[in-house]
Formats: sequence, C-alpha cells, structure tokens
Amino acid sequence: MTDPSLNPEQLQALAAAGIAAPSIHNTQPWWFRTTADARTFQVYADRSRSLPVLDPDGRALHLSVGAALFNLRVAAHHLGREPSVRLLPDTTEPSLLAEFDLGQPATDPDLFGLDLYPAISQRHSSRQPFTNRDVPEAVLGELITAAYGEDAVLSPLEEAGVRRVMELTSEAERRTAADPARLAATRQWLRLDESAPDGIPQAALGPQDHEARVPMRSFTGHPPTAGGHSERFEALPQLATLSTRADEPVDWLRAGQALERVWLVATVHGVRVSVLHQALEWPDTRWKLRDPSEGPGHVQLVLRLGYGPPGPTTPRRAVEDVLKAADDQDSP
Ligand SMILES: Cc1cc2nc3c(=O)[nH]c(=O)nc-3n(C[C@H](O)[C@H](O)[C@H](O)COP(=O)(O)O)c2cc1C
Repeated sequence: MTDPSLNPEQLQALAAAGIAAPSIHNTQPWWFRTTADARTFQVYADRSRSLPVLDPDGRALHLSVGAALFNLRVAAHHLGREPSVRLLPDTTEPSLLAEFDLGQPATDPDLFGLDLYPAISQRHSSRQPFTNRDVPEAVLGELITAAYGEDAVLSPLEEAGVRRVMELTSEAERRTAADPARLAATRQWLRLDESAPDGIPQAALGPQDHEARVPMRSFTGHPPTAGGHSERFEALPQLATLSTRADEPVDWLRAGQALERVWLVATVHGVRVSVLHQALEWPDTRWKLRDPSEGPGHVQLVLRLGYGPPGPTTPRRAVEDVLKAADDQDSP
C-alpha cells in the first residue's frame, strides 16, 4: 500500500522537476502548494511574472505553466503516484491552474511509453544551427503521438509550409524590432548577471542566421547587440506547428503539456528543439500560421527540430521560493 503523503525530499524532487520546464523568456510564472493534508499538489500562475506587452491574454503564461505541469506529472509517476490532473479546478480561484492527487498509486508503469524522467534535466533550448540530417519519420511519428496524448496536434511541415512559417516569423520579428515597448519587454528578461535565478543568460543566446532565412529570435534587438553574431543555419529547418482545437485557457494548458511531452520524447531520441514564438505574438501572423488544409485549429507554438549541440543549462529559482506550504502567508 502506498503511503499517500510524500516526504519532504520527495516533494522537493517533484517541485524541482516542475521548475525545470521551459517558459517564455524563462519567466518561470508558477508556484506550487500542497494542501494541509499533503494529499493534493496545486499549481498556480504567478501573474507578477507575466508579460503584459507580449502576452496580454496570458496564453504564453499558460503554455509555460502547462509545461511545468507535465514535468510534475512525470515526476509524480516516477515517485509511484498516479498523476490524474484536474485543470482549472476552481472557478473562484482563477490563478489555480491545476491540481492532482498524491495519494493514488500509479497503475500503469508504461504511462508515457518511455521513461521521460531523466530527460527533464537533460532538456534545454538549443538556439544553435542544426546539421542537415533529417529527423527520421519514425521519430516524428513518436512526437506526433506524444502531442496527441495531450489532446494537441503536432504537424511537421513540408517545404512549402516551412517557407510560409519562416516568412511569417520573420515578419513578426521585424515588427517586434520596430516596437520599443516589445523590445523593452524582452530585454527586461535578458540576464548579463550570471547569478540571476531567472531570465535568459547571454550564454543561452544563439547566433542569427548568416543568410537571414531561419528567423531565430533576436533577444537583443536589431541589429543584435550583446555579442550578436551570425552563422550558417541548416538549409531547410524541420519546423512543426503545435495546435489545439479551441483557444481557451484550458487549451493553452493542454498545449503546454503537449509541448513538454514532445520535447522530452525528442530529448530521449537526441533531437534538439528550439521554440519560434514570434509569429504567435501578433494576431494576424498567428492567424496565418494555420494551415487551412488541416482543418480548424489554433496554432499555439512553432517548434524547430533537429540535430546539433545541446543548449546550455539556464537558471531556475530555488525550490523553496516556489513550493509553499498550505499555511504559508507569503504566497504570491
Ligand atoms: C511559450 C514559450 C515561448 C517561447 N518562445 C521562445 C522564442 O520565441 N524564442 C526562443 O529562442 N525561445 C523561446 N522559448 C524558450 C524559452 O526561452 C526557454 O524555455 C527558457 O529560456 C528556459 O530555457 P530552457 O528551455 O533551456 O530550459 C519559449 C518557451 C515557451 C514555453
């Protein structure tokens, strides 16, 4: 019989997995709490870490928290618990985005198909050029299945789709570069101080594409400053869109979980990932990301997949700053 409550070390391990998730600009817009009986683990949005200019409706915030939630589910399963999640469980508490019970023993040892737990700490954004090696169809198939398992659709793009999405992303990147408020909102999360617990450190920034084809986000503006340089990128990147049927907060949480599930499966297979979110930040370019031939759907993310150097580790806030006890009055 499983002891329903996790001990403090197990709870810390759980939270550490949650905070290892990707988040927009490494804002880490989450905090966690266990209920007084230590049987329920709750996941909250930390809205003081939102990006009002870039993400006014909180969509990217929900995607980020959804990614953390997926890591929490993998870690709970690793600790022998059945992570059945309730999304947005309390309409009177909109910042409570999800909760799950810690008391149910895991029943399916093969819940995610692969052991994803080790990949949580191995996964990083890789903004470097990739090689021209194709991601095999079989691996793409596993990534599609991973997204499907979270009620989302991953669509690897053919050449014409890749060119269309790169053009829309470049257009969004150009507009952002001409918008001082958006540039400032991004620069605010650049970290030159290596001891900072959040934001994007200089070492994690990649080069720009020498031929200006692959529209990597310039976190420092255009022309890039702060060590910005250019390199030759892969001839035709493997891009994929991640979509959901509807476009409500609950769908954004699903898409965030799908993002992380896809990314962890990719990591197990040695496939690197970076996110191209720029076109999602303008309503018209976001709308045009949809492939009408694929039917109705709302694109939530664009991913670039391939083989290349791993990305560096980025900082995280300490577990004790994020995991609060039920009676803690200091919660954000
Ligand atoms: C919703 C969302 C949007 C993101 N957008 C971008 C982006 O446009 N460009 C980029 O290089 N990384 C993007 N990222 C990746 C984050 O910058 C990255 O996860 C964060 O800096 C932490 O680094 P890590 O992924 O290596 O752990 C995004 C991540 C999320 C969850």
